[in-house]
Amino acid sequence: MKFFIDTANLAQIKEAHEMGILDGVTTNPSLMAKEGITGHENIINHYKAICEITDGDVSAEVIATTFDEMIVEGEALASLHERIVVKVPMIKDGIKAIRYFSQKGIKTNCTLVFSAGQALLAAKVGATYVSPFIGRLDDVSTDGLRLIEDINLIYDNYGFQTQILAASVRHPMHIINCAKIGADVITGPLSAMAALMKHPLTDNGLAQFLADHAKAAVV
Ligand code: G3P
Repeated sequence: MKFFIDTANLAQIKEAHEMGILDGVTTNPSLMAKEGITGHENIINHYKAICEITDGDVSAEVIATTFDEMIVEGEALASLHERIVVKVPMIKDGIKAIRYFSQKGIKTNCTLVFSAGQALLAAKVGATYVSPFIGRLDDVSTDGLRLIEDINLIYDNYGFQTQILAASVRHPMHIINCAKIGADVITGPLSAMAALMKHPLTDNGLAQFLADHAKAAVV
């Protein structure tokens, strides 16, 4: 199971990379804006900086919403670095653009996916990744994990190669449940990944071991 970090924050990307758990990065226009990255040149340089940190795929989202503009923007993004994955929204022109990129050998991430039907379309046009937003579904009282199960079943039935990238992951239980279902990738904040390592019995046990070692040393 791959772990992608869902941020444009370089310090957090470095931290996850140095922990040895990072397989890639996903960004979106909101995450770039959150880091204060604005203006074409700054955005391009920021993607390059992210690619220098991670060894994995880096999703860079197009702003364009028409086929012709998405192609121009997506090809420019893909030319920045071999690890760039062009992130394309699940709209009619987006589906056409994913098919075009897929035929050209450019990796894609179909984003803003909220239903099994949308995921089926993304796979049919050859998306590299499909991004169902599980946290945002949970936010509107719809079971996000159930969607991951449905997509997994559909993709298995037909041997689709599109990887399920569970997005909008918010907490460690999302990650654990995605792993149980068999999502190929999760993307979420560093806090959710770091929370996986925490257990009070680990902390208590370590404190006890160190205390016993120190006691034995003074005898
Ligand atoms: O990758 C999609 C993600 O950025 C959405 O996350 O927490 O804004 O729903 P969130």
